[in-house]
Amino acid sequence: MQTFSQIAPLKTLIRQYKADQLRVALVPTMGHLHPGHLHLIEYAKQIADKVVVSIFVNPLQFDRPEDLQNYPRSFKADQQKLAEAQTDILFAPDEHTMYPNGLDSPATVHVAGLSEALEGAQRPGHFLGVTTVVAKLFHIVQPDVACFGEKDFQQLAIIRRMCEELMFPIEIASVPIVRHTDGLAMSSRNSLLSKTQRAQAPLFAQTLRWAAQQLAAGLAPQQISQMSTQKLNELDFKTDAIDIVDADSLGPLSPESQRAVILAAAYLGEIRLIDNLVVKL
Ligand code: PAJ
Repeated sequence: MQTFSQIAPLKTLIRQYKADQLRVALVPTMGHLHPGHLHLIEYAKQIADKVVVSIFVNPLQFDRPEDLQNYPRSFKADQQKLAEAQTDILFAPDEHTMYPNGLDSPATVHVAGLSEALEGAQRPGHFLGVTTVVAKLFHIVQPDVACFGEKDFQQLAIIRRMCEELMFPIEIASVPIVRHTDGLAMSSRNSLLSKTQRAQAPLFAQTLRWAAQQLAAGLAPQQISQMSTQKLNELDFKTDAIDIVDADSLGPLSPESQRAVILAAAYLGEIRLIDNLVVKL
């Protein structure tokens, strides 16, 4: 595996790949890699000849300074995991490389509407940070395909919209959520949970499954949302939102909707967990 922190030498190698007609996949991450990330990489290897993984903890997408400061980082261990997974390239730029003119007045990419809805309403500016950094990574790497996890359901929808609107000639591939055996969705932030919190955390996914059963049984989405929020709060979570929307448009459910998605966000102590479940209608 070759590791690059600078853009120019990375581009030289990518140009060589393109000249050799090799299909390049990009898997963007913020590091502290877990089996969910590795699953994305495995998938990328199946659909491309060369896999580029990026690790960059993107300050522009953090809406709380303490979240950025506490975000888990384990670069050496990540490098080893990526080498074991036979990743071809690791791109790990620093902040100056990604934001050469600083973070106060960056040029940004904004997908209006979708970025302010749902999770975007709870985390102002978050998705603008995501689309800006992903657009930069797309320009740098120019992949044929980029892989994202369904764990971040709204992020995936926004990136698809960005590619469509800005005509990025990049295919967006997605993989289902990878979970621990107790049901908790894998996440870099899980390592910040205390032992007690980690034992409680699976109740989050369990509540989502309960909500999905109620939806399938015909209970009204608003009622399910209220009841799930109450359940979680009784279990010591501080619920940010339980939204039940059309999985394809992320708008309100309608009689034409084919799939619903239950999007959930809740704090356990200071740690914010997100998860989702798609329900066929
Ligand atoms: P990060 O949270 O590191 O996630 C990187 C990719 O891994 C995302 O596409 C995410 O959806 C996927 N992922 C994380 N946990 C997963 C799980 N349990 N199962 C399946 N996929 C999972 O998402 C980001 O970083 C950033 O916003 C980024 C896109 C890199 C932009 O900075």
